[in-house]
Amino acid sequence: MMNIALSERLNAVLETARDNTIGHKRIIDVGSDHGHLAARAVMDGIFESAVCTDIHKGPADKSASLMKDMSLSDKVKVYCTDGLDGVELTEDDTVVMAGLGGNNMVDIISRVNASYDKELLKTVTFILQPQKSIEVLREFLSQNAFAVTEETVVQERGIYYPILVTRYTGETYNLSLREKYYGPVLMKKFEAGEAVVSEYFIRLDSRYKIRARGDQEIGRLLEEMGND
Ligand SMILES: C[S@@+](CC[C@H](N)C(=O)[O-])C[C@H]1O[C@@H](n2cnc3c(N)ncnc32)[C@H](O)[C@@H]1O
Repeated sequence: MMNIALSERLNAVLETARDNTIGHKRIIDVGSDHGHLAARAVMDGIFESAVCTDIHKGPADKSASLMKDMSLSDKVKVYCTDGLDGVELTEDDTVVMAGLGGNNMVDIISRVNASYDKELLKTVTFILQPQKSIEVLREFLSQNAFAVTEETVVQERGIYYPILVTRYTGETYNLSLREKYYGPVLMKKFEAGEAVVSEYFIRLDSRYKIRARGDQEIGRLLEEMGND
């Protein structure tokens, strides 16, 4: 039988899902590509069943054939679709999106937000590992009443990946510029001296210094931080 080893990043995403969704039975991996995360989630008994979605046929076919090879086809359904289109969310689902851009995640969650009963949505947990535009995602979540209950950072081969846990609450909130770009939960972990977060923030500082040249909002952010 094939050995499915997750990268450190994907393993951290799955562990974050496990630790933040007690009692959830189904995991839905949007942008599942190879399907490894869903396969591991079910094989390790973390979730009873899974759904993989991928917008491209090649990856969706790859996941489907993996599930067949691993005799998991009855527990893991695979769809070639955009985001969660055509997948019906049910109570206490866990939705993972890893490796997608923040704007793409905003599009996908917006469609869910517009079409689902809000009481059902409150039971669904989203685990998000955006590859870029995390500030766009944070702003969207705050203005659309999704609370971020946990944020972590995993480092793999010198690259730092933030992971967010979020749920719809019905209550919007405002983020300061600093919170939008660094994350309120991570800021607390930074203040508490969490090493990986400090290292990540050093990376962000230099990234934002470069971006400030062509981005007025980041320019303002750095000015504010310089004045603290
Ligand atoms: C960079 S890969 C990430 C794969 C895996 N989640 C991981 O983190 O290793 C992104 C995958 O998401 C798929 N994808 C991109 N946009 C999508 C969308 N709107 N809905 C579903 N899948 C999408 C791509 O086809 C690709 O297979």
